[in-house]
Amino acid sequence: MNNLIFKAEDSSVKLTFCAGIPEVTNLLPSEAKCCVIADSKVLDIHKEFKDALISKGYLIYEVNNPESDKNIDTFSEIIDFMQMNNMNRGDCLIGFGGGAVTDLAGFVASSYMRGIKYIQVPTSLLAQVDASIGGKTGINHGQIKNFIGSFYNPTEIFICIEFLKSLNEQEFLNGFSEVLKHSLITSKDTLEKLKNSSKKILDRETATLLECIQESIGIKAEVVANDFKESGERKFLNFGHTFAHGIESINYEKPIFHGHAVIIGMLMALKYSSDLNYLSSESYSLAKNAISEFNYDFSEVELDAEGIFEAMRSDKKNTDAINLVLLKDIGQPFLYAESSNDNLKKHIKEFIDDFKK
Ligand SMILES: NC(=O)c1ccc[n+]([C@@H]2O[C@H](COP(=O)([O-])OP(=O)(O)OC[C@H]3O[C@@H](n4cnc5c(N)ncnc54)[C@H](O)[C@@H]3O)[C@@H](O)[C@H]2O)c1
Repeated sequence: MNNLIFKAEDSSVKLTFCAGIPEVTNLLPSEAKCCVIADSKVLDIHKEFKDALISKGYLIYEVNNPESDKNIDTFSEIIDFMQMNNMNRGDCLIGFGGGAVTDLAGFVASSYMRGIKYIQVPTSLLAQVDASIGGKTGINHGQIKNFIGSFYNPTEIFICIEFLKSLNEQEFLNGFSEVLKHSLITSKDTLEKLKNSSKKILDRETATLLECIQESIGIKAEVVANDFKESGERKFLNFGHTFAHGIESINYEKPIFHGHAVIIGMLMALKYSSDLNYLSSESYSLAKNAISEFNYDFSEVELDAEGIFEAMRSDKKNTDAINLVLLKDIGQPFLYAESSNDNLKKHIKEFIDDFKK
């Protein structure tokens, strides 16, 4: 077991790295009345964890289709479930699953009786290094992701890499995009280390994986501690994301992994940083080579310059200019407002022509 305490606004979050699943169950509260909002698929895979929750007498609300159930109807059903079971302000909510479930659980916790204590047990790599860290909670509304939400921190987060063993390679890489992103915006050394450990990471070798997850969480936790409400530095965590949202929008009918769109988005941002002469060719090559060490499968991703550009432009955050995070070097992000539509469209088109080769 290994702890990290990080501050975010007026609360502090205790993050515990657990050696195995039994350690997680031992650390979950025994006295308090708890309700777990759980991904049913993950519960079925990790039956020993489910049995432990049952033997603790916890209430369990199962979510069957995390991303499509991350909505106001499920939110309302969970509130009914908790109310019927007389959950009170002093009781505890637990989110168990990937990022869709931890986001939903966090939002329920922030709203139920004006906010109750909650604990996150993230089970996907994306949720461990990103979604459960930083206090952003939310649900989707209409066609818009995370349209309703809040900033609300859990009191504790338990990270256990044993849960990650049941992710397939592309699901694992989906989360790994955020690990790569954290290194690209903060440290050349960390990026080099990831590149040199790619085989061990892909084999999910325990010590290596744990080290890179701890480092990645540490980076996000520090950024969040400095800028909880995203008025400055936290915006750098959007590196690659403006392009990625455009890519995800045009793949709406047949959704792709968010992390895969982020990787392509980061490659677009790296190339743009290089084309605009901010990023040296050495750093650009290092970044591209590091990313290419990992086996991302992009075969299902549709890319269309006009569509991506239009989706980026119609984003509510891009009113006068399109806001991008670019790099002056690895570890040196900055905000760049692109007001020339033609330049950006040309860049996206050239990138795609090259990417498809
Ligand atoms: N709050 C934030 O700051 C933040 C940041 C990034 C992403 N997000 C949100 O996170 C979500 C994406 O996260 P995600 O990729 O974890 O999505 P997800 O929760 O939909 O999980 C992806 C898939 O992995 C499965 N899964 C989860 N853990 C597993 C395990 N251990 N073994 C096998 N299968 C497992 C799930 O059942 C699901 O099928 C999105 O809703 C996104 O909006 C939030």
